[in-house]
Amino acid sequence: MAVFNLLVFLWVLLAFAASTSNYSFTQACFNTDNGGASLQIDAYYHTCPDAERIIYSKVEEAVMNDPWMAASLLRLHFHDCFVNGCDASVLLDDTSTFVGEKTAVPNLNSLRGFEVVDAIKCELESVCPEMVSCADILATAARDSVVLSGGPGWDVLMGRKDGLSASKTDANINIPAPNSDLNTLITKFKKVGLDSTDMVALSGAHTIGLARCSSFSSSLQGRSNSNSDGPALDLEFLASLKQLCSSSVESNNATLTALDLATPATFDNQYFINLVSGEALLPSDQALVAGNSPTLEIVESYAIDPLAFFEDFKRSMVRMGSLSPLTGENGQIRRNCRVIN
Ligand code: HEM
Repeated sequence: MAVFNLLVFLWVLLAFAASTSNYSFTQACFNTDNGGASLQIDAYYHTCPDAERIIYSKVEEAVMNDPWMAASLLRLHFHDCFVNGCDASVLLDDTSTFVGEKTAVPNLNSLRGFEVVDAIKCELESVCPEMVSCADILATAARDSVVLSGGPGWDVLMGRKDGLSASKTDANINIPAPNSDLNTLITKFKKVGLDSTDMVALSGAHTIGLARCSSFSSSLQGRSNSNSDGPALDLEFLASLKQLCSSSVESNNATLTALDLATPATFDNQYFINLVSGEALLPSDQALVAGNSPTLEIVESYAIDPLAFFEDFKRSMVRMGSLSPLTGENGQIRRNCRVIN
């Protein structure tokens, strides 16, 4: 009987050890936030060791020629990842079988940087043909754009393949609109697997770049300086926007202003300082601090602590960059980012 008890004890012990080791393995895979797929640092170490250097130097050249380009490249990665994962679908031109994402409402006359991605791809194809995916170019160019604007750097996980299709409909549905209220914003981020902290941290990307009057002007009349809308809107700020965007619909499509008027080309925490000072440009920015919104506390913490913002931004960019990647046998490495092979 004693021997039997000992055997049962050993069996339970072994079963427990096996289940905990399995558990930690599952956790470790899960913690990569890419569903266990094999995105990794240095994915091109053997196949294209110069890939990151080439991407950086091309982004640097583009930003030197046009400082606004840093913001545009950062946004391209976001608009790619929110539509069926980071698969470079945003770069595809229309074909006879699908209408691509370039003409979706959030993208049309707004997304830029396609030529810069083409130039990077061209250089990479000449050095290591069919090795580096367009989706990895977008993720890396986004990081480099932040660094070149004075923001933090991070290790970009790579190894994404490029998708074989794109969807204008999904782009219209999944990419949040500038007039979204807080619940809609939270829901859209949650749908792709990102939480409210990710949403606030990633919105900090609006510390660089520009917006067209048409993205926010319709909300200007309705915006007040009452405290029920969160921090009182700065009246001078509101008046200057009304004046800037008072022209016709056509010219409102072309009139641009900085998302962060104080330091428009520097990646810092000024965006959050603007929000708590009542200088939110987009209604969706204002929504983060409206009333008793649960996100107000996060905004306030980033406004007083730039390093906390940087840390969370880096983490959330890696999480966003890991949304539903195509790996292994799925997808392909496009030779030209605009068309499937
Ligand atoms: C929270 C939901 C978001 C909404 C509703 C939103 C909306 C917008 C809108 C309307 C513009 C101006 C576009 C135009 O007028 O042509 C814009 C610009 C921009 N957005 Fe967002 N955005 C959001 C989140 C993000 C995220 C997560 C990122 C990146 C991580 C990002 C990066 C940018 C950048 C960098 C610009 C400036 C682009 C340029 O100057 O070319 N945005 N966004």
